[in-house]
Amino acid sequence: MSSAQLALITGANKGIGYQVALTLATQNKYHILLGARNKDEGEKATKAIEELGGSVEFIQLDVTDDATIFAARDFITKKYGKLDVLINNAGVASRESSVSAQLYDTYKVNVFGPAVLIEAFTDLLEKSDNARIVNVSSTMGSITTFSDPAFEFYNHTYASYNSSKSALNSLTACYAVLLEKKGIKVNCVDPGFTATDLNGHRGYRTTNEAAESVNRAVLIEKDGPTGKYFAIDGSTLPW
Ligand SMILES: NC(=O)c1ccc[n+]([C@@H]2O[C@H](COP(=O)([O-])OP(=O)(O)OC[C@H]3O[C@@H](n4cnc5c(N)ncnc54)[C@H](OP(=O)(O)O)[C@@H]3O)[C@@H](O)[C@H]2O)c1
Repeated sequence: MSSAQLALITGANKGIGYQVALTLATQNKYHILLGARNKDEGEKATKAIEELGGSVEFIQLDVTDDATIFAARDFITKKYGKLDVLINNAGVASRESSVSAQLYDTYKVNVFGPAVLIEAFTDLLEKSDNARIVNVSSTMGSITTFSDPAFEFYNHTYASYNSSKSALNSLTACYAVLLEKKGIKVNCVDPGFTATDLNGHRGYRTTNEAAESVNRAVLIEKDGPTGKYFAIDGSTLPW
């Protein structure tokens, strides 16, 4: 069994998730379980990281499909018997025209998926001596921030997306309490407005800068904080 830190990242075939996987594998020598719902895209990303010298393997994982989550859990249990880090990165901003379809599609990926993953992987995380869960949130989920007229994206309030990230923040705080006795730290992070497919590459941060913000929460020490909502620079955001 590998002695490297073992991290599972959802939605890691592109964007911020891919860069988090790449940097943890190549700079921090983690072994990456690269989660992606699309096999071809996942294998392509895995090969790219391998070619850059990273230790990585593809795990087929659609966060809206419980069967793939449990299959991934069973595979990791059999092969490694533990997990050090779970990074709930997969996220969408659905453009469905019906309100209920838009909310449902967004919440399925941004809220239900992370909750099912956290529950599914708790036993494996408990086997790590420094277990961390990092939920990739957004400042758009900070109710205090997005409701302030001075907020730079005040006029871009997106009810389904913003509220899904507020719900993810609430899940973070809930699971920080629930998993504290099991020694599992649960934090969420804003990666900042980053150029990816999610926003048609309008973001002004690079995926490398976003990965740095996410990885700050991944790399916290054993006695580090839990139940925090981190900004891009590692300070804390208001809920
Ligand atoms: N970019 C920003 O400015 C920004 C700002 C704040 C927060 N965030 C958050 O950062 C995270 C990463 O977003 P990104 O900007 O890197 O966007 P992205 O490039 O669109 O990547 C999103 C990733 O999520 C995956 N995904 C979507 N639905 C999935 C599902 N059902 N199961 C598994 N994976 C799924 C996508 O897979 P496919 O390729 O198969 O679609 C893709 O790998 C998201 O949680 C997002 O909300 C982004």
